[in-house]
Amino acid sequence: MPPAISTHELTRRFDALTAVDALTLDVQTGEVFGLLGPNGAGKTTTIKMLITLLPPSGGTASVAGHDIRREPRLVRRSIGYVPQLLSSDGALSARENLMTSARLYHLPGADRRARIGEALEFMGLESSADRLVRTFSGGMIRRLEIAQAMLHRPEVLFLDEPTVGLDPTARRAVWGHIRGLRQAEGTTILLTTHYMDEAAELCGRVGFMHLGKLVALGTPAELSAQAGPGKNLDDAFSYFTGSGLSEAGEQGGQYRDVARTRRTARRLG
Ligand SMILES: Nc1ncnc2c1ncn2[C@@H]1O[C@H](COP(=O)(O)OP(=O)(O)O)[C@@H](O)[C@H]1O
Ligand SMILES: [Mg+2]
Repeated sequence: MPPAISTHELTRRFDALTAVDALTLDVQTGEVFGLLGPNGAGKTTTIKMLITLLPPSGGTASVAGHDIRREPRLVRRSIGYVPQLLSSDGALSARENLMTSARLYHLPGADRRARIGEALEFMGLESSADRLVRTFSGGMIRRLEIAQAMLHRPEVLFLDEPTVGLDPTARRAVWGHIRGLRQAEGTTILLTTHYMDEAAELCGRVGFMHLGKLVALGTPAELSAQAGPGKNLDDAFSYFTGSGLSEAGEQGGQYRDVARTRRTARRLG
């Protein structure tokens, strides 16, 4: 089977800054892959290129077998995307948010009701379907956003920091649903996270990005072992990116991103 995601020297520059620097990576169909690295490493920029929201400055990539430059419409039809920022509308109910997504993804009218029902059930939101989203907990909002992104049964799902700001119980619930999705639908999932325990638990393979470059690639166990005997993925993070997790947000020029993450975290409570 061809890889679900394949990039070759994928590059994105913003003026003098090379945010993603010649990234070459294959993610296999059905894999849960974690893109890790400090704030500003280039994770979100990578995702935005793969989902055709941002044109690359160089290199190539394909998603679900479609070239992101030549076949952006086919790429968009094959993917789901949960952005780093909250995207559900608090003034609508869960069901209404799902209806918005159903229209966005051109789901046939006849299928909408059934698909929305299935997605609510799958994400454990049935009993809250008709409540306004602004009354939801952070974990429920993230589950709703994943439900919105999977409504059209995408082959590849991109989750940008799906559990930022959630408490441990809510994070575990989201993990369970991500795993279930992969098992039930065979969905390929590329996610980013700052939580190394989450990456170690969920991801078959992870890649560390640092200053736009992919600096390490392997299973969580392999990369932990490369950091030294008895080391875990937190240690591997420091080893490969040269920064402790607590400092990760304090590198120069990353204020915007950190502020955004903090705002998101506050909203998620
Ligand atoms: N639209 C943009 N214009 C200018 N610089 C940007 C833009 N988007 C991202 N960057 C910069 O690119 C780098 C990578 O950002 P990003 O991909 O958001 O990193 P990550 O998701 O790993 O935290 C950062 O230095 C960021 O400030
Ligand atoms: Mg990001």
